[in-house]
Amino acid sequence: MDYQNIKFEKDGAIAILTVDRPKARNALNSATFHEMDHALRSLKDDTRALIVTGGGDKSFVAGADIAEMSTISAAQAREFSALGHHVFASLENLPIPTIAAVNGFALGGGLELALGCDLIYASENAQLGVPEVALGVIPGFGGTQRLTRLLGRARAKELLFTADRIDAAKAKEIGLVLEVLPPDQLMAHCKAVAAKILKNGPLAVAQAKRVVEYGADQDLRAANELERQGFAVLFGSEDQREGMAAFLAKRPANFQGK
Ligand code: CAA
Repeated sequence: MDYQNIKFEKDGAIAILTVDRPKARNALNSATFHEMDHALRSLKDDTRALIVTGGGDKSFVAGADIAEMSTISAAQAREFSALGHHVFASLENLPIPTIAAVNGFALGGGLELALGCDLIYASENAQLGVPEVALGVIPGFGGTQRLTRLLGRARAKELLFTADRIDAAKAKEIGLVLEVLPPDQLMAHCKAVAAKILKNGPLAVAQAKRVVEYGADQDLRAANELERQGFAVLFGSEDQREGMAAFLAKRPANFQGK
């Protein structure tokens, strides 16, 4: 597929998906979602981490495309919402770590995209928010739910009700982003985090992600059972034998993801 709205590149084992419509501040229209869906489906086993970012130097993603949404019916809005939910759920369900490099505006659907990633890092010039109520709507790609699970109800409601844009420092203070970097260091930082993860057992990282994600929606008893199962399953892997043998032999582990 020839992409018009995204760039999809590989840097070793790291894939980089750039939403690339800088003239529209990388707003998400249906065509962009279809391209993202295609890109995520095309990931092969040799990709072990994914970084998501925005094209140009101003914006990560400034939300869903308001021009496209401005004239749609309620039925079409439902379809558009379902499309966004589908793509962000696909992102969330990838068995590899995903990192949002928030290099500017992450508003509405843009913040929802970042929230679909495992780790969020932001540049000093980033501004984040969910301004949908200022347009007479609410977030439609999982933002009301993922934001609430991450920040708690009061903080999420504050952002949702006021439509405020917060800067990167405030976003870090409230736990929305993990670290704030100078713009020219953001991507290097995200790649360094990915490289650190890549040294570890890929099956173990995938299990850690799975257990955290599925466990978050369960009561503690069921969630802990998920952990017990995930722990035991890894003892059927070559990576577990390699990781422990390497420790005992005082050498670095050479994980094969098997
Ligand atoms: N959709 C469509 N076009 C957008 C857009 C969006 N979300 N955001 C920006 N653009 C377009 C502008 O219309 C403008 O186009 P023209 O040059 O053709 O006029 C171009 O991008 C540049 O925008 P600005 O001139 O406004 O650029 P700026 O740097 O001064 O401001 C901004 C940038 C703060 C991001 C501002 O554009 C803005 O507030 N954008 C809208 C943000 C927003 O409300 N996002 C939520 C969308 S709703 C949503 O996401 C719903 C959902 O969950 C499903």
